[in-house]
Amino acid sequence: MAALRPPRLDAAADDVARTAAAAPDWDTLAAVARSCVACPELAVARQRVVVGDLPASGRPRFVLVGEAPGATEDETGRPFVGRSGALLDQLLAEAGLSRSEAAVLNIVKCRPPANRTPKAPEVACCSGWLRRQLELLDPPVVVALGLSSAKWFLGPRTVLGEVRGRPHPWEGRAVWATYHPSAAIRFGPNGAPRAGLLADLTAVAGSLS
Ligand code: URA
Ligand code: SF4
Repeated sequence: MAALRPPRLDAAADDVARTAAAAPDWDTLAAVARSCVACPELAVARQRVVVGDLPASGRPRFVLVGEAPGATEDETGRPFVGRSGALLDQLLAEAGLSRSEAAVLNIVKCRPPANRTPKAPEVACCSGWLRRQLELLDPPVVVALGLSSAKWFLGPRTVLGEVRGRPHPWEGRAVWATYHPSAAIRFGPNGAPRAGLLADLTAVAGSLS
């Protein structure tokens, strides 16, 4: 049976993948990605393509991968700078990790309207950018934040509660999947997601030292 994805987006995903694969370095990729219009619905609604943040050294000890930009990220062009980002920074510090050693990326680089979950064809389209980013950065450890990100790495049937808490081999790297900071905010300071996210980040820190 033929693939169920709309053919137009399939072609767009191929285009992104080809363009991304040809980018020789981070700056080239970032410059091209910033004018990407592969997902029509996202491209008209966004203010900025949030390509991702690099550590000053250019060589991250680990990479954090979220879902998609929110309103603050869309305004500033930087990942995880809104409420989720503030909690992420705090929990990273509590876990003994520093954001300044990390690259911070998202599965989808443009804000979905009203912060809806990115659709499968949008994830497919944007995958080319992320794949090339990971190749260029070549981190030993990746932390997938939330279910969209966990599924991107570990497959569509991934259940967060079953995969979190330990590393999974992925293309020569260790992928840890854990709760998204927005879940930690939603369930509150005494909720399970916050404790789980902190425990998982602490385990990641232990694996790096
Ligand atoms: N949530 C995400 O998944 N990514 C961001 O960059 C901000 C909020
Ligand atoms: Fe391009 Fe990704 Fe934005 Fe889609 S979400 S328009 S693939 S940068």
